[in-house]
Amino acid sequence: MNHIVILTGAGISAESGLGTFRDKDGLWTKYDLNEVATPEGFARNPDLVHEFYNARRTNCRSAQPNAAHAALARLQAEHSDRVTIITQNVDDLHERSGTTGVIHMHGELSGALCAACDHRWTAPQEMSPNDLCPSCNRTATRPDIVWFGEMPYRMDEIYQALSNADLFVAIGTSGNIYPAAGFVAEAHAVGTKTLELNLEPSTTAGTFDSAHFGPATEIVPRWVSEILGAP
Ligand code: APR
Repeated sequence: MNHIVILTGAGISAESGLGTFRDKDGLWTKYDLNEVATPEGFARNPDLVHEFYNARRTNCRSAQPNAAHAALARLQAEHSDRVTIITQNVDDLHERSGTTGVIHMHGELSGALCAACDHRWTAPQEMSPNDLCPSCNRTATRPDIVWFGEMPYRMDEIYQALSNADLFVAIGTSGNIYPAAGFVAEAHAVGTKTLELNLEPSTTAGTFDSAHFGPATEIVPRWVSEILGAP
Protein backbone atom coordinates (compact mmCIF):
# COMPACT_ATOMS: atom_id res chain seq x y z
CA MET A 1 0.00 0.00 0.00
CA ASN A 2 1.45 3.36 -0.96
CA HIS A 3 0.05 6.80 -0.23
CA ILE A 4 -3.20 6.82 1.79
CA VAL A 5 -5.24 10.00 2.21
CA ILE A 6 -7.76 9.89 5.05
CA LEU A 7 -10.58 12.38 5.61
CA THR A 8 -12.23 12.33 9.02
CA GLY A 9 -15.49 13.91 10.17
CA ALA A 10 -17.47 14.26 13.37
CA GLY A 11 -18.32 10.53 13.45
CA ILE A 12 -14.77 9.59 14.46
CA SER A 13 -15.11 11.65 17.65
CA ALA A 14 -18.71 10.64 18.42
CA GLU A 15 -17.69 7.78 20.71
CA SER A 16 -15.41 10.20 22.58
CA GLY A 17 -18.60 12.03 23.57
CA LEU A 18 -18.36 14.92 21.09
CA GLY A 19 -21.64 15.43 19.27
CA THR A 20 -21.93 15.21 15.51
CA PHE A 21 -23.82 17.86 13.52
CA ARG A 22 -26.55 16.18 11.51
CA ASP A 23 -27.38 12.99 13.41
CA LYS A 24 -30.43 12.82 15.70
CA ASP A 25 -29.51 15.18 18.60
CA GLY A 26 -26.68 16.63 16.45
CA LEU A 27 -25.47 20.19 17.08
CA TRP A 28 -27.40 21.59 14.10
CA THR A 29 -30.67 20.23 15.53
CA LYS A 30 -30.07 22.37 18.66
CA TYR A 31 -28.43 25.50 17.26
CA ASP A 32 -29.14 27.63 14.21
CA LEU A 33 -25.93 27.35 12.20
CA ASN A 34 -26.66 30.74 10.60
CA GLU A 35 -26.38 32.32 14.03
CA VAL A 36 -23.33 30.49 15.39
CA ALA A 37 -21.30 29.41 12.37
CA THR A 38 -21.33 32.27 9.85
CA PRO A 39 -19.47 35.60 9.71
CA GLU A 40 -22.89 37.31 9.56
CA GLY A 41 -24.04 35.57 12.75
CA PHE A 42 -20.80 36.63 14.47
CA ALA A 43 -21.34 40.25 13.40
CA ARG A 44 -24.92 40.13 14.77
CA ASN A 45 -24.17 38.48 18.10
CA PRO A 46 -20.50 37.81 18.97
CA ASP A 47 -21.41 36.90 22.58
CA LEU A 48 -23.61 34.03 21.40
CA VAL A 49 -20.94 32.75 18.99
CA HIS A 50 -18.19 32.86 21.64
CA GLU A 51 -20.54 31.12 24.11
CA PHE A 52 -21.14 28.32 21.56
CA TYR A 53 -17.42 27.74 20.90
CA ASN A 54 -16.44 28.20 24.58
CA ALA A 55 -18.79 25.33 25.44
CA ARG A 56 -17.40 23.18 22.64
CA ARG A 57 -13.83 23.97 23.77
CA THR A 58 -14.73 22.83 27.30
CA ASN A 59 -16.31 19.59 26.00
CA CYS A 60 -13.29 18.96 23.81
CA ARG A 61 -10.84 19.37 26.71
CA SER A 62 -12.67 16.77 28.79
CA ALA A 63 -13.04 14.28 25.90
CA GLN A 64 -10.49 11.53 25.32
CA PRO A 65 -9.30 10.10 22.00
CA ASN A 66 -10.88 6.72 21.21
CA ALA A 67 -9.73 3.50 19.55
CA ALA A 68 -10.36 4.91 16.06
CA HIS A 69 -8.05 7.90 16.63
CA ALA A 70 -5.47 5.51 18.13
CA ALA A 71 -5.67 3.17 15.13
CA LEU A 72 -4.98 6.04 12.71
CA ALA A 73 -2.02 7.14 14.87
CA ARG A 74 -0.68 3.58 14.65
CA LEU A 75 -1.19 3.53 10.88
CA GLN A 76 0.71 6.79 10.53
CA ALA A 77 3.51 5.63 12.85
CA GLU A 78 4.00 2.34 11.00
CA HIS A 79 3.33 3.65 7.51
CA SER A 80 5.61 6.69 8.02
CA ASP A 81 5.14 9.61 5.65
CA ARG A 82 2.74 7.75 3.37
CA VAL A 83 -0.39 8.71 5.31
CA THR A 84 -2.03 12.15 5.06
CA ILE A 85 -4.79 12.85 7.56
CA ILE A 86 -7.25 15.62 6.74
CA THR A 87 -9.95 16.39 9.27
CA GLN A 88 -13.07 18.51 9.18
CA ASN A 89 -13.05 18.30 12.98
CA VAL A 90 -12.02 21.23 15.11
CA ASP A 91 -11.15 19.05 18.12
CA ASP A 92 -7.58 17.92 18.87
CA LEU A 93 -8.26 14.21 19.44
CA HIS A 94 -6.09 13.08 16.50
CA GLU A 95 -3.10 14.98 17.94
CA ARG A 96 -3.79 13.74 21.47
CA SER A 97 -3.65 10.16 20.21
CA GLY A 98 -0.23 10.82 18.67
CA THR A 99 -1.01 11.69 15.04
CA THR A 100 1.13 14.50 13.63
CA GLY A 101 0.73 16.90 10.72
CA VAL A 102 -3.07 16.71 10.66
CA ILE A 103 -4.64 19.11 8.15
CA HIS A 104 -7.48 20.90 9.99
CA MET A 105 -9.38 22.17 6.97
CA HIS A 106 -12.15 23.72 9.12
CA GLY A 107 -9.82 25.29 11.72
CA GLU A 108 -9.31 24.37 15.37
CA LEU A 109 -11.04 25.15 18.68
CA SER A 110 -7.60 25.73 20.17
CA GLY A 111 -7.00 28.69 17.86
CA ALA A 112 -7.89 32.39 18.09
CA LEU A 113 -7.87 34.62 15.02
CA CYS A 114 -7.97 38.41 14.72
CA ALA A 115 -10.52 39.31 12.05
CA ALA A 116 -8.84 42.72 11.71
CA CYS A 117 -5.18 41.73 11.09
CA ASP A 118 -5.30 37.89 10.61
CA HIS A 119 -2.94 37.30 13.55
CA ARG A 120 -3.37 33.79 15.07
CA TRP A 121 -2.65 32.63 18.62
CA THR A 122 -3.64 29.95 21.12
CA ALA A 123 -7.21 30.48 22.27
CA PRO A 124 -7.84 30.87 26.00
CA GLN A 125 -10.39 28.46 27.49
CA GLU A 126 -13.01 31.25 27.43
CA MET A 127 -13.03 33.80 24.62
CA SER A 128 -15.09 37.00 24.63
CA PRO A 129 -15.81 39.87 22.22
CA ASN A 130 -13.69 42.12 24.48
CA ASP A 131 -10.49 40.10 23.94
CA LEU A 132 -7.70 42.20 22.48
CA CYS A 133 -5.56 40.94 19.61
CA PRO A 134 -2.02 40.59 21.00
CA SER A 135 -0.65 41.89 17.70
CA CYS A 136 -2.83 44.88 16.68
CA ASN A 137 -4.59 45.50 20.00
CA ARG A 138 -8.03 45.68 18.41
CA THR A 139 -11.14 43.82 19.59
CA ALA A 140 -11.94 41.67 16.57
CA THR A 141 -11.06 38.33 18.13
CA ARG A 142 -12.88 35.27 16.80
CA PRO A 143 -12.41 31.51 17.07
CA ASP A 144 -10.08 30.20 14.33
CA ILE A 145 -12.90 28.18 12.79
CA VAL A 146 -13.87 28.12 9.11
CA TRP A 147 -17.52 29.19 9.03
CA PHE A 148 -20.14 28.60 6.35
CA GLY A 149 -19.38 30.84 3.39
CA GLU A 150 -15.61 30.86 4.13
CA MET A 151 -12.83 29.04 2.31
CA PRO A 152 -11.47 25.93 4.09
CA TYR A 153 -7.77 25.95 4.91
CA ARG A 154 -4.87 24.34 3.03
CA MET A 155 -6.85 23.34 -0.06
CA ASP A 156 -3.78 23.36 -2.33
CA GLU A 157 -2.02 20.83 -0.08
CA ILE A 158 -5.18 18.72 0.09
CA TYR A 159 -5.65 18.54 -3.68
CA GLN A 160 -1.96 17.80 -4.09
CA ALA A 161 -2.24 14.89 -1.63
CA LEU A 162 -5.41 13.62 -3.32
CA SER A 163 -3.75 13.64 -6.72
CA ASN A 164 -0.90 11.46 -5.38
CA ALA A 165 -3.04 9.02 -3.39
CA ASP A 166 -3.41 5.32 -4.05
CA LEU A 167 -6.27 5.06 -1.58
CA PHE A 168 -8.73 7.66 -0.27
CA VAL A 169 -10.63 6.80 2.91
CA ALA A 170 -13.49 8.86 4.38
CA ILE A 171 -14.30 8.15 8.03
CA GLY A 172 -17.37 9.36 9.95
CA THR A 173 -18.55 12.12 7.66
CA SER A 174 -22.05 12.51 6.22
CA GLY A 175 -20.83 13.90 2.88
CA ASN A 176 -23.01 17.00 2.99
CA ILE A 177 -20.43 19.77 3.14
CA TYR A 178 -18.26 20.74 0.18
CA PRO A 179 -15.44 20.84 -0.71
CA ALA A 180 -14.76 17.83 1.58
CA ALA A 181 -17.76 15.92 0.23
CA GLY A 182 -16.24 16.21 -3.25
CA PHE A 183 -12.90 14.58 -2.36
CA VAL A 184 -14.19 11.09 -3.17
CA ALA A 185 -15.14 12.20 -6.69
CA GLU A 186 -11.76 13.94 -7.14
CA ALA A 187 -9.96 10.77 -6.07
CA HIS A 188 -12.19 8.57 -8.21
CA ALA A 189 -11.57 10.72 -11.28
CA VAL A 190 -7.82 10.01 -11.16
CA GLY A 191 -8.27 6.27 -10.59
CA THR A 192 -7.61 6.26 -6.85
CA LYS A 193 -9.36 3.51 -4.87
CA THR A 194 -11.91 4.85 -2.41
CA LEU A 195 -13.26 3.43 0.84
CA GLU A 196 -15.97 4.66 3.18
CA LEU A 197 -15.87 3.80 6.91
CA ASN A 198 -19.00 5.11 8.57
CA LEU A 199 -21.83 4.26 10.92
CA GLU A 200 -24.22 4.36 7.97
CA PRO A 201 -23.99 5.21 4.26
CA SER A 202 -23.20 8.89 3.63
CA THR A 203 -24.81 11.10 1.00
CA THR A 204 -21.90 10.26 -1.32
CA ALA A 205 -21.88 6.52 -0.52
CA GLY A 206 -22.59 5.54 -4.14
CA THR A 207 -19.29 7.07 -5.27
CA PHE A 208 -17.03 4.89 -3.09
CA ASP A 209 -15.54 1.62 -4.41
CA SER A 210 -16.11 -0.12 -1.08
CA ALA A 211 -17.41 0.50 2.41
CA HIS A 212 -17.58 -0.89 5.93
CA PHE A 213 -20.38 0.27 8.21
CA GLY A 214 -20.37 0.29 12.01
CA PRO A 215 -19.06 2.33 14.94
CA ALA A 216 -15.69 3.97 14.23
CA THR A 217 -14.09 2.37 17.30
CA GLU A 218 -14.73 -1.06 15.76
CA ILE A 219 -14.35 -0.60 12.02
CA VAL A 220 -11.32 1.72 11.96
CA PRO A 221 -9.05 -0.49 14.13
CA ARG A 222 -10.22 -3.54 12.11
CA TRP A 223 -9.34 -1.84 8.82
CA VAL A 224 -5.92 -0.73 10.13
CA SER A 225 -5.24 -4.30 11.32
CA GLU A 226 -6.11 -5.58 7.83
CA ILE A 227 -3.28 -3.39 6.49
CA LEU A 228 -0.70 -3.72 9.27
CA GLY A 229 -1.65 -6.94 11.02
CA ALA A 230 -2.98 -7.09 14.58
CA PRO A 231 -1.27 -4.74 17.06
N1 APR B 1 -18.82 5.90 14.15
C1 APR B 1 -18.71 6.22 12.83
N2 APR B 1 -19.47 7.14 12.23
C2 APR B 1 -20.39 7.78 12.98
C3 APR B 1 -20.56 7.51 14.36
C4 APR B 1 -19.73 6.51 14.93
N3 APR B 1 -19.81 6.17 16.22
N4 APR B 1 -21.56 8.29 14.82
C5 APR B 1 -21.99 9.02 13.78
N5 APR B 1 -21.30 8.72 12.67
C6 APR B 1 -21.42 9.27 11.31
C7 APR B 1 -22.84 9.59 10.89
O1 APR B 1 -23.47 8.42 10.34
C8 APR B 1 -22.61 10.67 9.84
O2 APR B 1 -22.37 10.11 8.55
O3 APR B 1 -20.74 10.49 11.29
C9 APR B 1 -21.32 11.35 10.31
C10 APR B 1 -21.52 12.71 10.96
O4 APR B 1 -21.99 13.59 9.99
P1 APR B 1 -22.12 15.16 10.28
O5 APR B 1 -22.80 15.36 11.60
O6 APR B 1 -22.75 15.78 9.11
O7 APR B 1 -20.60 15.60 10.47
P2 APR B 1 -19.52 15.96 9.35
O8 APR B 1 -19.76 15.18 8.11
O9 APR B 1 -18.19 15.85 9.99
O10 APR B 1 -19.84 17.48 9.08
C11 APR B 1 -19.05 18.19 8.16
O11 APR B 1 -20.27 20.19 8.62
O12 APR B 1 -21.29 21.78 9.97
C12 APR B 1 -20.14 21.40 9.34
O13 APR B 1 -18.09 22.31 9.83
C13 APR B 1 -18.95 21.27 10.25
O14 APR B 1 -16.97 19.95 9.88
C14 APR B 1 -18.39 19.92 9.91
C15 APR B 1 -18.98 19.64 8.54
